[in-house]
Amino acid sequence: MCGIVGYFGNRDSVPILINGLKRLEYRGYDSAGLAVIGDDQLHWLKKAGKVSVIESAADDHVLNGTVGIAHTRWATHGEPNDVNAHPHLDQTGNIALIHNGIIENYNVIKQVLEKEGVTFQSETDSEILVQLISKIYYKDGLSFPEAVQAALQEAVGAYGIVVICKDEPDVMVAARHGSPLVLGIGEGEYFIASDASPIVEHTRGVVYLDEGEMVVLQNDGYTISQMKDKKVVTKDISLIEHDLEAIEKGNFPHFMLKEIYDQVNTITDTMRGRLQVEEGNAFLGGLADYIPRIEKAKRCYITACGTSWHAGIIGKYLLEEYAGIPVHVEYASEFRYRRTIVDNETVVIAISQSGETADTLAAIKKAKEQGALTLGICNVVGSSIARNTDCGVYTHAGPEIGVASTKAFTAQVTVLSMLALLLGRKKGLSKQQGIKLAKALAEIGKDVETILSDTYNIEDIAEEHMQVDNFLYLGRGVNFPVALEGALKLKEISYIHAEGYPAAEMKHGPIALIDDNMPVVFIAPHDKTYDKVLSNIQEVYARKARIIILTDKKSKDLEKLSDYIIKIPQCHPRVFPILASIPLQLLAYHLAVLRGCDVDMPRNLAKSVTVE
Ligand code: AGP
Repeated sequence: MCGIVGYFGNRDSVPILINGLKRLEYRGYDSAGLAVIGDDQLHWLKKAGKVSVIESAADDHVLNGTVGIAHTRWATHGEPNDVNAHPHLDQTGNIALIHNGIIENYNVIKQVLEKEGVTFQSETDSEILVQLISKIYYKDGLSFPEAVQAALQEAVGAYGIVVICKDEPDVMVAARHGSPLVLGIGEGEYFIASDASPIVEHTRGVVYLDEGEMVVLQNDGYTISQMKDKKVVTKDISLIEHDLEAIEKGNFPHFMLKEIYDQVNTITDTMRGRLQVEEGNAFLGGLADYIPRIEKAKRCYITACGTSWHAGIIGKYLLEEYAGIPVHVEYASEFRYRRTIVDNETVVIAISQSGETADTLAAIKKAKEQGALTLGICNVVGSSIARNTDCGVYTHAGPEIGVASTKAFTAQVTVLSMLALLLGRKKGLSKQQGIKLAKALAEIGKDVETILSDTYNIEDIAEEHMQVDNFLYLGRGVNFPVALEGALKLKEISYIHAEGYPAAEMKHGPIALIDDNMPVVFIAPHDKTYDKVLSNIQEVYARKARIIILTDKKSKDLEKLSDYIIKIPQCHPRVFPILASIPLQLLAYHLAVLRGCDVDMPRNLAKSVTVE
């Protein structure tokens, strides 16, 4: 939520900042702005709208300076307009701040400052920070970094901030509490950003700031310290693993389409060096030391949000079936606020693409307090969730830029399949059965290629249904979460209302919605639920709905009952969910494109939800 980027060096910061904003735009895109210090002046510009708006506006302004900050916003407090856009300036117009997060006690601080004569310009919570820093800096005679540190002692909530001051033009201060910040270390220049994407084209060396840390950039270097006691900390420099191409669209019209096609490789990448086909087993290095404890666990909770939560439900089916461990799957936002039966015999698995989702982070904190072993399944290396869990597995799907999660989802399910296999083998799953599943997983890449080699049928279905207002997705067993995910994909990017349901549950309510205008997508593999799903299809057919069937084998029955059949390769029933998700991603994608929607930046959404 909100992307922030700063540059401190010898080059003109404006093009670097604008390019950085473009890389971060997936984090929020309702307004943008920048501020730079040049010729001892603070220049700024901010506008409602996407980064392209600020980019054109920057051409008409004299803006240059070698120190600068920029922000792309996802509004929380105050509507998206020019005034509420960041940077926010203090009353003197000398200090500029960008912020990602929410300051919970902003009203209390605002009232105090107003009594002291400060006039606020915006409706945001963020502005109080810059006004507070200004008050302390100009009244208390502290240095600029000291004033920032002192102001932050009063702020309650979550923040990643970067601040500059015209009166100390050779200093930039950034601080983190609850919202991510990465420092990029170049040759005589520094970058600070919400994630590594604006940094990778300049340098690969980065330092991930931890909770409660602050960094001061100056001409002679950088200093990281703890905000509470000013203790200086020394941190290792990490290397960004991905290349620049990984965050570019290439020849694809949208990141989402590129990422759907990436799955030909990413699912295999997730398993590389981990899947042991001949032994019918898996090795997950990040868990190696913890396996005895995981094996002995009495129960497991999986906690996550959105698409990652859907992966978690598939994980439940797999872990219970193969490893016999009871698994509860819970939205992180619910987990954190109720009495959960979690103790030191519980493993809490947190799944997150970004590794920064605020609710999931809070759930992990709570699980730790209750004594659980926490296990993270994350895509972003070095992310907060990866660093705040006891152990974990990276999904290695590469950067996912499209707001709608695609390749990260299939990678999460792949990790969960390997975890189920590994624990299953420890708990009595035969080698033969293990080999069957491992072989099926190893073959996924080529089946994905087959699915993606001919998508005309899916494009036709999209064209036929582009005017409808509703969709229903139905599946049973391990394919029920696939139905949920298909529906979520569709609604988030095409704005068509869609619901996912267990196929048999339909008759307990949603059947009332069915008429000849309602498209119903059935996920119907030839597994042990097939005959049952066929009966559910009959029930819908009798009510004249439009029927789209996603299956692994055509049959006369299915042809008779359906308007469309999407056929994917026959596979092991437990890898079917991974393959079945791909045509559903494509269906959502083509519907959204035909309806003229902004596929990569759907309205009101942001990629990384770092607020509660
Ligand atoms: C996915 O398409 C969504 N944009 C969203 O539901 C997402 O999965 C959710 O916000 C969780 O994000 P995370 O995996 O980064 O934690």
